[in-house]
Amino acid sequence: MCGIVGYVGTQNATDFLLEGLRRLEYRGYDSAGIVTLPNEGQVEITKTVGRIESLSEKLAQNPMSGSIGIGHTRWATHGPPTEENAHPHFGGDGGVLALAHNGVIENYAELKDSLIEKGYKFLSDTDSEVVAHLIDFYLNEAEADGAAPEDDPYANLLAAVQKTLPRLRGTYGLVILFREHPHVMIAARRGSPLVIGIGNGEHFVASDGSPLAGYTDKIVYLADHQLAIVTADSLRVLHRDEGQVRHNVQVLEVEETDLSLKGYAHYMLKEIFEQPKTLADTMRGRLSEDNATAIFGGLNLSAQQLRQVQRVILTACGTSWHAALVGEYMIEEMSRMPVEVEYASELRYRNPPVDHKSILFAITQSGETADTLAALRELKRKGHPTLAICNVVGSTIAQEADGGIYLHAGQEIGVASTKAYTSQMLVLTMLALYFGRLRHLSYEQGRKIIDALHRLPDHVEKALETNDEVRRIAGKYCHENNFLYLGRQYNFPTALEGALKLKEISYIHAEGYPAAEMKHGPIALVDKNTPSVFIVTKDFVYDKVMANVEEVKARGGPIIAVVAEGDTQVAKIADDVIVVPDVEPFVQPFANIIPLQLLSYHIAVLRGCDVDKPRNLAKSVTVE
Ligand code: G6P
Repeated sequence: MCGIVGYVGTQNATDFLLEGLRRLEYRGYDSAGIVTLPNEGQVEITKTVGRIESLSEKLAQNPMSGSIGIGHTRWATHGPPTEENAHPHFGGDGGVLALAHNGVIENYAELKDSLIEKGYKFLSDTDSEVVAHLIDFYLNEAEADGAAPEDDPYANLLAAVQKTLPRLRGTYGLVILFREHPHVMIAARRGSPLVIGIGNGEHFVASDGSPLAGYTDKIVYLADHQLAIVTADSLRVLHRDEGQVRHNVQVLEVEETDLSLKGYAHYMLKEIFEQPKTLADTMRGRLSEDNATAIFGGLNLSAQQLRQVQRVILTACGTSWHAALVGEYMIEEMSRMPVEVEYASELRYRNPPVDHKSILFAITQSGETADTLAALRELKRKGHPTLAICNVVGSTIAQEADGGIYLHAGQEIGVASTKAYTSQMLVLTMLALYFGRLRHLSYEQGRKIIDALHRLPDHVEKALETNDEVRRIAGKYCHENNFLYLGRQYNFPTALEGALKLKEISYIHAEGYPAAEMKHGPIALVDKNTPSVFIVTKDFVYDKVMANVEEVKARGGPIIAVVAEGDTQVAKIADDVIVVPDVEPFVQPFANIIPLQLLSYHIAVLRGCDVDKPRNLAKSVTVE
C-alpha cells in the first residue's frame, strides 16, 4: 500500500526519493509523486499515474532540484488513481505546504466541508488534501498571532501540525514540507509506520526500513502519537502527551535488497524457486537433535510459562491466514492443544471470551497489516501474551508483540505471497513440535519430525521440477474463467491458497473447498469449462478424495490432480496429473503448494497479467 520517502540534507533529494520509491514498489501502488523545495518560496512537483519508471522518465526530461523533498506511492482509497489524486498534496494557496500521507482520515468529509466554508479549494478527491489545508489554516492562525521566535524558527509550523493532529480521526503517517522553510520537514505518526534514518549531515524518512538500506543503518522508529522535526543536522521527537522525548536510535536490520531478477522473468517466479533455500534459512539453528525439539530465541516466555498454555489463537489475513489454518492442523496433531484460527479483521471487533491460559500468535509477512495489528493490540490490552510470526524485521507488529519468531525468508517483492507462506507454515510446524515436546510427544517422535523437516528443502526442490509440466497444463486451461480447488485435511488450506493465488494474479474466479464439501454447493458449478484442481496425495483420506474426483468426472468436469510419486490410480481418471514427492502428511502442504503457485503464475503470464503487481492489490495492507 502507500509508501512515503523523505530527504533533507545536502544532496539532490530526487536521487534518494526515486530510489526509495522503487524499493517501496513491492507494497503495491497505482500512482506516485515527488515534491522538492529548491529554495525559499519555490516548490517543484512531478506526479504520474502508473509506475515509478514513468516518474523517472518525466524527471529525466524535467529534472527537479533541491536538497529537501518527499515522495509517495499511492494505492487509491479516496478517488481513482489520477495525477490530481496522487500525492504530495498542497495545502494553502499555491502550495504553502506539501504533504504525503499514508492511512485513512475517517472524518475527512466533515473537515472538508468546514474548510470549503472557509474558502479552501480542493483539487483532489483524497482525504489527504484535507489534512494539508487544515495545517495551512492553523499555520495562518499561528502566524496571525505573531512570527516565530528567532531561536525557534519552526514554532509556528509545529503549532499548526499539533493543532491539526487531534482533529483527525483515523490513521496517518504524515511528512510535511513548508515552502517558506526549505530546511525542515515534520513527520507525524498514528497507525501508519514511519522510520527516520540518521545520516551524515542528512536525514531520511520512510514508511519502512527498506529504502534506507545502504544509506544509513541508524534509525529511529516513530511511535504512535509522536512527531518529529527533522533538518539536515537535527532531529527532535515529541510525543502528544509527554512533550519532547529522547529518541531511541536502533540499528537497521534490513538487508540491502537485491532487486535483481537473477534471470527470472518475474519476482514471483524467482521467489517460488527460492523456497528450498528460504525454508532452510527459516529452519537454520532452530532444530535441536539432542532435545528432539525446536528452539526459538525470541519468544520471551519460559518453557514453564508456555507449558501453562491451554489454547492457541492464530490470527492473520490473506495468505497468512491460510498458513494459520495449516498451523491449526499441525499444532492440534502434534501437541493436542486446541487451536483457533481467526481472521484478524473479525477478531479485532468480536470481543471473544479468552481465558488466561490462551496465547495469541499474529502471523504476518509484512508485520504492518492494519487488521492483524489491531487484533494483536486488542488481545494485548486484555493482558494476553501476544507473539508475532513475521518476516519484516523491525515492523510494527514485530515491535509491539511481546515476542516472536522471524521467518528469515528475505524480502518478498511479488505481491502474491509464496516463499513467506511456506516459511510461515514451517515456523508453525516447528512451533507445533515445540509445544508437542512440552506435552506428550516422545523423544523418538520429536526426532522423526525433525528428520522429516530436514528433508523438506529437497522435497520442495523436487516439487519445483514440475514446472515444465505445469506450464503445459496452464496453456491448456488458461482460457477458462472458473476453477475449483479441492483437498482435505492438511490439503484443505492448500486448496484455499491455490485458489487465492490464481484469483490474485490472473483475475480468474477460483474457489477452494474441503473436497467433501463440494457436494453441498460447488458441485453445481461443475461443467466442461470449470476445471477442478484436486490435491489427492497419499494420506488417510485418499480414498475419500478419490470418490470426490469420480463425482466431478461423472459430471464432465476437467480434472487436474496433484498426486504423489508412485500413484497409479488417479491418472486413470484425471485429465492431467502433476506428480509431487510422496511425503508424510504434515509435509504435504509444503510440496503440494509448489505446483499450485506455478500454475497460477503460468496462467497469469499466458493471460498477459502483471504478475508482480496485480491490479487493485497491495503487498502491505495498512488500512482497515
Ligand atoms: C495482502 C497481500 C497478501 C497477504 C495479506 C496479509 O493482501 O497482498 O499477499 O497475504 O496482505 O499480509 P501480511 O503481511 O499480514 O501477511
